[in-house]
Amino acid sequence: MPTKIGLIGGTGDIGSALAVHFAKKFDAVFIGSRSEEKARNTVEEIIRDRPEEAEIRNHLKPESNEAVVQACENLVLTVPYSAATDTVKDLAGLFSENQLLISAVAAIKKSSKEFVAANEALSVSESIQKLLPRIKVASAFQTLPAPILYSGREIDADVFVACDERDTYTRVAEIVSSIRRVRPLYAGSLELSREIEGLTALLLNSAQSSRLKNPTLKILSF
Ligand SMILES: NC(=O)c1ccc[n+]([C@@H]2O[C@H](COP(=O)([O-])OP(=O)(O)OC[C@H]3O[C@@H](n4cnc5c(N)ncnc54)[C@H](OP(=O)(O)O)[C@@H]3O)[C@@H](O)[C@H]2O)c1
Repeated sequence: MPTKIGLIGGTGDIGSALAVHFAKKFDAVFIGSRSEEKARNTVEEIIRDRPEEAEIRNHLKPESNEAVVQACENLVLTVPYSAATDTVKDLAGLFSENQLLISAVAAIKKSSKEFVAANEALSVSESIQKLLPRIKVASAFQTLPAPILYSGREIDADVFVACDERDTYTRVAEIVSSIRRVRPLYAGSLELSREIEGLTALLLNSAQSSRLKNPTLKILSF
C-alpha cells in the first residue's frame, strides 16, 4: 500500500470526498489546487466538518497542483470534464515515469433535456494517456456520489476500473479498496473508459426520472 496520494483539483466535490476517506488509510493526502490558499481553505473545511476526527488534520496536505504532481507517485484527477485535458497539458512536464494517474473525470454534457456522453473520438482517460505516454493512466471513481462519501458514510458500491496493464490494475485496486466497502471491478483496457465515463449520464438521468438521491452502482451476482 502506498503511503502518499495526491488529488489534482482536490478542492472540489469528489476530490474533498475522496480525501476524507484516503486520510484514514494514507499517511499523506495531498489536496491540489490552482490556488494554494484554496487548498488550505479546503483542508480547514474538511477538518471543521468532522470535529470528532481531529487526527485527520495530520494527513491532509494542501498544495498547488504542481507540487502535488511532484510529490506523489499515485495521483487522482478530479477536475471538471471541460478542464481535464488542459489541466494535464499544463502539468505534463512535471510527471515522471512510473507515476499512476487515475482519472475520475466523466466525459458527459447536458443536452436540452438530459445528460449524454460527450462522444469525442477518445475518452478523457485515453486523451490523457496520449498526452502522458510515459506514465500509467487509469479510469475509476466516476460513479461514486461525492456528497455521501464526503459525509463519511460508508457506501456499499462498485467502482469500474479501466487500464491497460495488470500491474496498473493492482495499484488502482489497492487505492479503490482503501475506501471501506467500495469494491474495484476490472472493466477492461483503457479503451473501455469511454463506457465508464458515459455511465454517469445514465445515473444522473435515472436519478432525475426516478427521484433517486445520490445513485451509485453495485453489480449483483446470482
Ligand atoms: N461530483 C461527483 O459526485 C463526482 C463523482 C465522481 C466523479 N466526478 C468527476 O470528477 C470531476 C470533478 O467533479 P467535481 O464535482 O468535484 O467538480 P468541481 O467541484 O466543480 O471541481 C473540482 C475542482 O476542479 C478545479 N477546477 C475547476 N475548474 C477548473 C479549470 N477550468 N481548470 C483547472 N481546474 C479547475 C477546481 O479546483 P481549484 O479551483 O482549486 O483549482 C475545483 O475545485 C468531474 O470530471 C466529474 O465528472 C464527480
